[in-house]
Amino acid sequence: MLTGNKVSASVRARDALPSPIRKLTPLADRALADGVSILHLNIGQPDLAAPDALIEGIQQYESRILPYAPSQGVAGTVRAWQRYYQQVGVHYDVSQILVTSGGSEALLFALMAVADPGDEVICFEPTYANYFGFAVMTSVRIVPVPLDPGNGYHLPPAEEIERRITPRTRAILFCSPGNPTGAVFSYDELNVISDIAARHNLFVISDETYREIVFEGPRDMSMAKVEPTADQTIIVDSVSKRFSATGARIGCLATRHQGVLDGIHRFAQARLSAPTVEQRAVIPLLEEPRAYTDPLAEIYRSRRDVVYSELERIPGAFVRKPEGAFYIFAVLPIDDGDRFASWLLTDFRLDGETLMISPGDGFYLTPGLGTSEVRFAYVLEDNALRRGMRILREALAVYPGRTEE
Ligand SMILES: Cc1ncc(COP(=O)(O)O)c(C=O)c1O
Repeated sequence: MLTGNKVSASVRARDALPSPIRKLTPLADRALADGVSILHLNIGQPDLAAPDALIEGIQQYESRILPYAPSQGVAGTVRAWQRYYQQVGVHYDVSQILVTSGGSEALLFALMAVADPGDEVICFEPTYANYFGFAVMTSVRIVPVPLDPGNGYHLPPAEEIERRITPRTRAILFCSPGNPTGAVFSYDELNVISDIAARHNLFVISDETYREIVFEGPRDMSMAKVEPTADQTIIVDSVSKRFSATGARIGCLATRHQGVLDGIHRFAQARLSAPTVEQRAVIPLLEEPRAYTDPLAEIYRSRRDVVYSELERIPGAFVRKPEGAFYIFAVLPIDDGDRFASWLLTDFRLDGETLMISPGDGFYLTPGLGTSEVRFAYVLEDNALRRGMRILREALAVYPGRTEE
């Protein structure tokens, strides 16, 4: 007997949006089945080898018992994060650090610890699209502040942010270096955020997943160094991108705010623990991060230069040079990024190859924004990127939804 149709899923379950990065996968699968090869510039999955120490640490796990880790994290891993932050120039007590299952869990915990259902969190758009998903899961309302492609997706004037603050606003959430923009906020910009947070008693949730992947400025920036609001700041961190180790699922949350700490330690007890073997295996990376991350940032800088210089030459495209992370967000002469990204997979081939990219609108919450933007993740080697940009140029020349000139 069918009973399933009498019960309905939660509003949250119904409101959850598909990832803009993954929703074109069925079209890509069909192209693959037709023998087309696809250059994947759609997803932030690094193609680079993880550090040897990490792989060896996983392979050399010595026991037949695979236990839970302590809910705060393996003691050695918590201390390794503490020493990692010391190298960044920030002191956290051991009790102020929680090891999480990726930055993703840290983000969920941060939102749950600062906001109740119906509360608001200010966010800049375009932004990391999963923030929208986490907001749905926690019943938090994201209030977006649009960024301007014309100034490289840097902060708008403080008034633009402040006028969106209501009695329900609890925090400002952002990532720098930014996904999908590649913008790195300067300390002047971080101070603007800090001033607003101080004046309106808001938390600051600073997602520093890409901290070391910076091309022009320092590779040790942190909102935790912005003193006036350091005690109401929550740092979200991750080994995923800086150590090319997305599958390790190890991240971290660090804060000096006692109420938040009390809450997140209890949340952590409820979810038991982050992965045990991987936590232990990341310790050597956290002890000496720059040995891996400095060469890594140089590789991404070279890729950024390839993609940027090619995009700049495409008639009708508008692009600013990203300062960090491994994404470039470009305005293209197209009617609709979704349609263009789908068309690349269904209709366009150059020598049996096509390109998979992320439509820009999925990184915005405001309907209608981002329709002519797309995100490229430069997670392929230079020659593949050159081929990808050639495909893009030739595709734009014949795309039926091309807009200008
Ligand atoms: C800005 C940002 N924050 C957090 C994450 C989540 O990373 P993870 O859960 O793998 O640590 C990502 C992943 O793409 C990201 O781009």
